[in-house]
Amino acid sequence: MSNEPIISLRHVTKRIGRSTVIDNLTFDVPQGEIFGFLGPNGAGKTTTIRMMVGLMSITQGEIFIKGKNIKSEFEQAIRHVGAIVENPEMYKYLSGYHNLIHYAQMVPGVTKERIDEVVGIVKLENRIHDKVKKYSLGMRQRLGVAQALLHRPSLLILDEPTNGLDPAGIRELRDYLRLLTRTEGITVIVSSHLLSEMELMCDRVAILQQGKLVDVKPIHEFMQSAEQVQTYVIEAKPVEKALNALKEMENVKEVKALPEGLEIEAEKEQIPDILMDLIRLDIRVYSVQAQRQSLEDRFLEMTGGGQIG
Ligand SMILES: Nc1ncnc2c1ncn2[C@@H]1O[C@H](COP(=O)(O)OP(=O)(O)O)[C@@H](O)[C@H]1O
Ligand SMILES: [Mg+2]
Repeated sequence: MSNEPIISLRHVTKRIGRSTVIDNLTFDVPQGEIFGFLGPNGAGKTTTIRMMVGLMSITQGEIFIKGKNIKSEFEQAIRHVGAIVENPEMYKYLSGYHNLIHYAQMVPGVTKERIDEVVGIVKLENRIHDKVKKYSLGMRQRLGVAQALLHRPSLLILDEPTNGLDPAGIRELRDYLRLLTRTEGITVIVSSHLLSEMELMCDRVAILQQGKLVDVKPIHEFMQSAEQVQTYVIEAKPVEKALNALKEMENVKEVKALPEGLEIEAEKEQIPDILMDLIRLDIRVYSVQAQRQSLEDRFLEMTGGGQIG
């Protein structure tokens, strides 16, 4: 696998009417990764993806897929890409298999073996001869992915693939996307407005807000910096005394009294000291719980506000 990025954006800008929907995006997607495109609704994820696959014109800047310019070398660029941008059209009264056969007829060089192969990749073997109208949302989506994979693209782009999936469906999606990167060397780009899903799926994420790139980093770096300061709920008695003590502590950033306990914001490293200080004051500590859901909020502060989710 070469080190050349699978896709490069250079100063990509999209203006619609008077508004600048995408503002000067520059980044590379390395080969063989699952790359996440994260941003709140309206951030410009779909618009960017539409430009990547030539469904929408680029106002300014360039997009290269395997070094080929999507504007001036469209055919050579797009043959590397399989994408699901909007809901793929399926014939509900045909089986999944016949949908694939039908689609394969429009793509040169797709064999029966390849059809069986993609069915295996998305794990639809057992249901592929059922009519699509009997499929769950997750299965329809897998059929869409199978279709997008028929021509052996090296880049698969999925716009908000987890929308409407339950946690089990998300896990399945993640597993076969991983399989794709490992066994077929495919690079995957997924967009989402949920950090928690990106964390499960991606190697690297680009954060988009109001059409601007906030940051591109390996996901574990985002998680690390997001986890440094966290929210904890401390159950301690007497409550009033604990509240006042916590308010005095410099390593406690915020304190709030909640019915279930005292909610504080602090760095994880400081928690033992904070507890020790409480105990020294004869305050009885019954429990401490890290509030995992605050990660999203932390993360937002880190990336400069706005809303994700
Ligand atoms: N065809 C269009 N005409 C006008 N504005 C649009 C059009 N398509 C998208 N937008 C605007 O561009 C911004 C980005 O939209 P979109 O790319 O769909 O965001 P996301 O996919 O991140 O939710 C939004 O403010 C949206 O209103
Ligand atoms: Mg969108």
